[in-house]
Order: sequence, then C-alpha cells, then structure tokens
Amino acid sequence: MENVTNVSLAQNRKDDHIRFAIEQQGSAQTHRDFDDVEFLHHALGGVNLEQVRLQTMVADIEWQHPLYINAMTGGTAAALQINSALARAAAATGTALAAGSLGVALDQPETAVSFKVLRELNPEGFVFANIGAGRSVSDALRAVELLQANALQIHINTVQETVMPEGDRDFGEWIDNLANLASALERDGVPLVVKEVGFGLSRKTLKLLSEIGVKIADVSGKGGTNFAQIEAERRSDSYHYLNSFGQSAVVSLLDAPEFPELLASGGVKSPLDAVKLLALGARAVGVAGAFLPAAATGDHEKVVEQLKWWVSRMRELYALLGAANTSQLTSTDVLLRGRVREYCQLRAID
Ligand code: FNR
Repeated sequence: MENVTNVSLAQNRKDDHIRFAIEQQGSAQTHRDFDDVEFLHHALGGVNLEQVRLQTMVADIEWQHPLYINAMTGGTAAALQINSALARAAAATGTALAAGSLGVALDQPETAVSFKVLRELNPEGFVFANIGAGRSVSDALRAVELLQANALQIHINTVQETVMPEGDRDFGEWIDNLANLASALERDGVPLVVKEVGFGLSRKTLKLLSEIGVKIADVSGKGGTNFAQIEAERRSDSYHYLNSFGQSAVVSLLDAPEFPELLASGGVKSPLDAVKLLALGARAVGVAGAFLPAAATGDHEKVVEQLKWWVSRMRELYALLGAANTSQLTSTDVLLRGRVREYCQLRAID
C-alpha cells in the first residue's frame, strides 16, 4: 500500500507479532537450559501444602503469588481482545500483569483504549506500564498515568530493533537516556523495572543498570518467544542465524551480580520452570507467550483456568521441595549440568 502511515505499520507489526508468537508456542526445542537445572529430591524434606505461602514482594508491594503476565500487546483490535481477557483473568486470580509497549498509545491516542482495559477491568491489580528505552521522561510518565500503573517496565531490545528494518539503531544513547529516566522516575516515586524481551541480561548489563540507579530488572532470556525468528517469518530477508543468540533466564540469574530485585522470564513453559527460576534467586517469574493462545481466544475463563493451574502446581512444588515460602526456595539443593554448568565455568574465569 502506498499511503500506509507509520502508525498502521506499527499496528500491522503488532498483529504479526501476536500471530507468529502463537505459532512459536508449538515448536519443539533441542536444548533447554531449564533441563540443565535439577532439584535434588529429598523424599522426607517436604512441608505441609497448607503451610505454603506463595506471596512475594515486588517494588515494596506484596503480590499474592510470584507468577505474573509479562508484557505483550496493545494498539489493535486483536490486542484489545487479548488485553481484555488478560485483565479479567489477572483480576480474578490476583496476578500482576504488564502492558505491551505503550509507545503506540502515546503517538496515536485513539489506540489507548486497547491498553486502558488493563486497568479498567482490573482496578485493584498490580499493573506495569511499558515503554522503550529511547523514550523521554514525559513519555514515561504519560504511560504510567494512562494506566494508573503501579510501576513502569522499560524494555531494552537491541536484537529485536536490529532485526526490524524500521527498528531503532541509536543504541549508544540508551544508557544515558535510561540513567535520566531512572532518576526522574525515582523522584516521582514510580518503581522502574528494566527488562529484556527474550535475549537475557548479562552480568555486565546488570552492573551498568545498577550503577545508574536501576533497582529492579527482569532478565527475560532466550528459549521462549524469539523476536529474531518472528521477524524472519515476517519477511524473506531472514535472520535465522540469530535464532540462538543471547542468554537464557537460567544463566542470566546464575551470572547476575548482587542486585536489589531480580525478576525472571523467557521460555518459562511449566510451573517447574518457574520454580527453578525462583530457586535461582528471582523474586517473581513472568510468562508471556505461553499465555497468549488462551488470551487470543478472547475467553478470559480460559486464561483464569490456566493461571489457577500454574499457581496450584507451583504451590505443590514448594511443598515437595520443603519451601514454606518463596524465599526458602533459594535454599533448596539444585544441581547444574551440561551447558549451564559449562557456562558457569567459562564465566568464572573471566
Ligand atoms: C512481547 N514482549 C514484549 N516485551 C516488552 O517489554 N514490550 C512489548 O511490547 C512486548 N511485546 C511482546 C509481544 C508479544 C506478542 C510477545 C509474545 C512478547 C516480550 C515479553 O514480555 C517477554 O519478555 C518475552 O516474550 C519472553 O517471554 P516468553 O514469551 O518466552 O514467556
């Protein structure tokens, strides 16, 4: 089409992302770092299921459980349907949830309705707003305001921008911009989470974030939704050689420096994956792609059912592992094998 505006391009992209991310859910993987993390089973080490407390503290607010719906979408009719289902399900299950990037809502206010449902249908819930690392302080505050959000996620997504022909290329400016955003948001009392979008946060990146005053980070690693692959599907100029680029959430957590609050996501496909990331030090675990097919049906009951199943299965795992609460999971006996072990050994000598 000749007269396509930037906004409709952005909207087409968002619908493509939804479609291809759903298709990715079924794809089999040869190696998962999650499989290299094993709990040592102690047959007499369990605690009573009723004693298990799943609560966790994120940004000084107590969440009912440590599973959250990570950032996905907004800006289109399909996204409105997805966000409505997610918001209703989050409200029904006490699950924290993150909006997709609000950039489109700031640039094109008539699309804001597809995001606002996240708050309107979920008035008491914990909601993250979300924008990109190149945005201004005033955009950040507008995004928070639009959703009456409890906190703001800022995504750093250099790989994703690289594989999009229309993507940002000014990565060199992001660190200064982030430093500016971090101090402005701190002044305004808005908790800030810096997150990846499926390629992981290295030790060096987390140290840099810490130096500029970022206190919460979501390592969002590889192994789940893969934007290099999604962009390859969208056009013939394929980026297939980037399919295994980046680090998993597992190794990002293992390699992390001291950091005030770490959240983890990326490739979390089961309650056991989620509990492994909590055992490796995450305060809470985000899931995006795995909840998308149910949300895309528009039937929030399907998402409610899925969330309830995950949370109840996580509770069983806490009891089995002898953890009466989330922080006790970090004292469980964990074995590291294969590539994950090798990664830790390689990193230990640098
Ligand atoms: C995403 N993700 C994402 N992240 C972000 O910070 N802002 C965004 O707008 C989006 N958009 C988006 C769209 C779709 C369709 C998906 C599936 C994901 C990334 C997401 O929050 C998460 O970091 C990664 O998807 C990795 O988690 P999963 O999908 O492997 O559980």
